[in-house]
Amino acid sequence: MKKYNVAVVGASGMVGGELLDLLESRRFPVGEFYPFNSGRRAAYVKFRGRRYACAAPSLAALKKADLVFFVSTDEVAERFAPRLAAAGVRCIDDSARFRLDSRVPLVIPEVNGAELKPSARLIAGPNCTLTGAAVALAGIRRRFGIKELRLATYQAVSGAGKAAMGQLEEELRGYFRRGRVTRAAGAFPHPIAFNLFPQVGGFDAAGHSGEENKVEAELKKIWGDSRLKISSTAVRVPVLRGHSLSAWVTTRRPFTLAALQKELRRAPGLKFFARPQDYPTPLAHGHRTSVVYAGRLRRSRISPYEFQLWIVSDNLYKGAALNSVQIAELLARA
Ligand SMILES: NC(=O)c1ccc[n+]([C@@H]2O[C@H](COP(=O)([O-])OP(=O)(O)OC[C@H]3O[C@@H](n4cnc5c(N)ncnc54)[C@H](OP(=O)(O)O)[C@@H]3O)[C@@H](O)[C@H]2O)c1
Repeated sequence: MKKYNVAVVGASGMVGGELLDLLESRRFPVGEFYPFNSGRRAAYVKFRGRRYACAAPSLAALKKADLVFFVSTDEVAERFAPRLAAAGVRCIDDSARFRLDSRVPLVIPEVNGAELKPSARLIAGPNCTLTGAAVALAGIRRRFGIKELRLATYQAVSGAGKAAMGQLEEELRGYFRRGRVTRAAGAFPHPIAFNLFPQVGGFDAAGHSGEENKVEAELKKIWGDSRLKISSTAVRVPVLRGHSLSAWVTTRRPFTLAALQKELRRAPGLKFFARPQDYPTPLAHGHRTSVVYAGRLRRSRISPYEFQLWIVSDNLYKGAALNSVQIAELLARA
């Protein structure tokens, strides 16, 4: 079997740590392994029983790899990925930098993997929030068409990286020491312990948050449907891991609940719970889980063309690291 020399840029981060575990547990054929971090602090990672020191990336060092996973920042991906791709190095980028670039495929293997050309050198993975909706609704969309999608998203703290996790932990420690919550340094504009807020990212002039805009634009690209109408409210909640979505879906053609259930049962990468009381939760279904979970399917009371669904997925696995590894596996098989 062909082996790939693999570099991971952002190996010391939340997604990076999961990516290393997945490369190992899924036995991706890694030859040489090169981990990178910002270089601003010493960081060590363990891979296949060996301890590696992370280094700051350079073009020359990254060119030693056949495959580079970018799990760091938009700026880092921008600085290196196009030049590496032009030199023939395959780059899989989890940052937002190239997701909406028309030359770059934006891929969830279960949803649009068939369109990925083996010659692709720079491939983007989508935002972790829309992945659950894209996977859960793909089959229903093909059969009944989706005209409008409204989402309320309940997003875990780990979606904002290790600084955010540090903020939650520090605020919880402070609460148990002093009996009150005060905002700790980290990633969020408000305390997140025992709190929630309708802000994920900054706001645009119309008042939509960065996350809401990403979900809308990226889902249209992945489904290849510019006519789709999407509206969402993204909420950060004090959950460690696992994003939850409440979806209101309006179809183009009439549906029966039985037909929706059939599509949900056979959707690749989805586990559907038919009984209302079996709904998924982030704690039970969002920690190191490889599939997306959905439940609480019901007709909406507003329109005969509308149904509601509850969706949970692991933002660090299917929303990021696992999706990237699955893209690499798909290309390795091609
Ligand atoms: N968290 C999620 O659920 C999720 C989901 C989908 C996509 N993503 C995307 O995945 C990426 C990583 O997210 P994360 O949550 O893992 O963030 P994180 O926990 O903050 O980790 C960021 C990683 O990037 C490294 N880094 C920062 N600046 C760098 C630089 N100039 N050069 C090289 N490495 C640098 C950091 O190294 P140091 O240790 O030295 O700081 C760290 O390893 C982001 O682009 C994010 O948008 C995240």
